[in-house]
Amino acid sequence: MNILGIETSCDETALAIYSEENGLVANSVHSQVDLFKEYGGVVPEIAARDHSLKIIPLLENLLNESGEKLKSINFISYTAGPGLIGSLLIGDAVAKTLSKLLDVDLIPINHLEGHILAPCMEYSELKPPYICLLVSGGHTQIIVCESFGTYKVIGETIDDACGEAFDKVGKLLGLEYPGGPKVSKLAENGDAKRFNFPRALKSEDNLDFSFSGLKTSVLYQLEELQVSDYPDVAASFQEAVIDILAFKLFKASKQTGIKKIICSGGVAANKNLRQVLKQIADEEGIEVFYPKFEYCTDNAAMIAYAGFIRKKYNLSIEKNIFPRPRWAVEEI
Ligand code: KG4
Ligand code: ZN
Repeated sequence: MNILGIETSCDETALAIYSEENGLVANSVHSQVDLFKEYGGVVPEIAARDHSLKIIPLLENLLNESGEKLKSINFISYTAGPGLIGSLLIGDAVAKTLSKLLDVDLIPINHLEGHILAPCMEYSELKPPYICLLVSGGHTQIIVCESFGTYKVIGETIDDACGEAFDKVGKLLGLEYPGGPKVSKLAENGDAKRFNFPRALKSEDNLDFSFSGLKTSVLYQLEELQVSDYPDVAASFQEAVIDILAFKLFKASKQTGIKKIICSGGVAANKNLRQVLKQIADEEGIEVFYPKFEYCTDNAAMIAYAGFIRKKYNLSIEKNIFPRPRWAVEEI
């Protein structure tokens, strides 16, 4: 079984081929970040236009570089939501056209399921139940993966996503979009104990997050500071984010009794977050897994793999689906 994965939910045009026999045999990503540096964030119409320009050349490259043939594809797995509608529509059109031309079935995938399953690509021993901390530019959720295909959100942000907070603080610090990796780089030379930024909802009983107050508090703090203080701000901000993510994640593990956790999505590329989670997990006898760095941010490998899992475990596959800008992972 060979599955072509297509991902165009936001600002990465991505294609991959996952084979039942050989695992991931082809993988390409074209990131649009350079287009959005001057805007400080994704502009949906520009993103959609760029997907439309890049997706066919990317497909040609993928096939040329891997030596794979379109006629060896048995299924097409594509992101049907959630995401930007204009971006999703490009992937949808390409997926539906290829499915007709090649006479193969479509597997519409919820993008979040891709992130939740991403670490399983590498760790064959990783099986549900496990808890997923999904931290990206659009989402911050604690999800229980009860079995493949069954997901329950037990905590989430009530305002900004944590990747969005990294990006906004990056902008305040004069860094280019996306701010996450740059804030984290700047933080390497900073004192994380200098500013005590708020850990919102820490004393609440629930597993929810809030990051908008943290961003505002960074803004007010900066009014009194010089550029030379910015590394300390970046380090203290990063520590506040990691502290609250770890606190709620391990609380979720205690509440559910599940001792296997994964962390995925763009922010899971953050090295400090990985270190802190690993350290606490080791102390508490919990196993923690991450996708490889390149499968933390948006990619089509995880979408092809999610399609593979849906076929392998005979999970439901929706027909005639229209792209969905909003699509809760519990509704799959
Ligand atoms: O999963 P992703 O590629 O796209 C979405 O689905 O949103 O995540 C992108 C987000 C951006 O907000 C980016 O700043 C953040 O992930 N990010 C990071 C790091 N690398 C990417 N945040 C903190 N530290 C990083 N090293
Ligand atoms: Zn994503």
